[in-house]
Amino acid sequence: MSSVKQVLLVNGKSQTVEIDPDTPLLFVLNDELHLNAPHFGCGMAQCGACTVMIGSQVVRSCVKPVGSVGREPITTLEGLGSPEKPHPIQQAFLEEGAAQCGYCLSGVILTAKALLDAKPHATDQEIRESLGGVLCRCFAHARILRAIRLYRDGRHG
Ligand code: FES
Ligand code: FES
Repeated sequence: MSSVKQVLLVNGKSQTVEIDPDTPLLFVLNDELHLNAPHFGCGMAQCGACTVMIGSQVVRSCVKPVGSVGREPITTLEGLGSPEKPHPIQQAFLEEGAAQCGYCLSGVILTAKALLDAKPHATDQEIRESLGGVLCRCFAHARILRAIRLYRDGRHG
């Protein structure tokens, strides 16, 4: 299919791209909009490195055609907060030193945030299960779980 103009709402900003609607959203975010947090890992919806949120849902952007997004808001990991003003879940990861190489963090942080947005009192087991399909090659799992707990428990005083 040939390129068409498409308006995307990404991290609160309206962005116009001219692109084949079958192009994976990940490529548009990386190559057209220069957002680096969602990473290419497997390209087959198997690892979670490319995760973004579309509305309140976590989506694997490597298999999501950009033409299917419409005007739904897209949030990438860099859209949650900034180095100067991190989102509380990003702050929890900093406090626990939970990121090693950081390659998996779009999948880990956005998946955990989406779970806790929907279910603020999710148990450790539910957190583990939600992250079952997000691969961390650095084996940082114990620190990752500590950071997510810190965020969860901090929201309840
Ligand atoms: S790169 Fe999308 S799930 Fe692995
Ligand atoms: S921190 Fe390196 S892949 Fe998870």
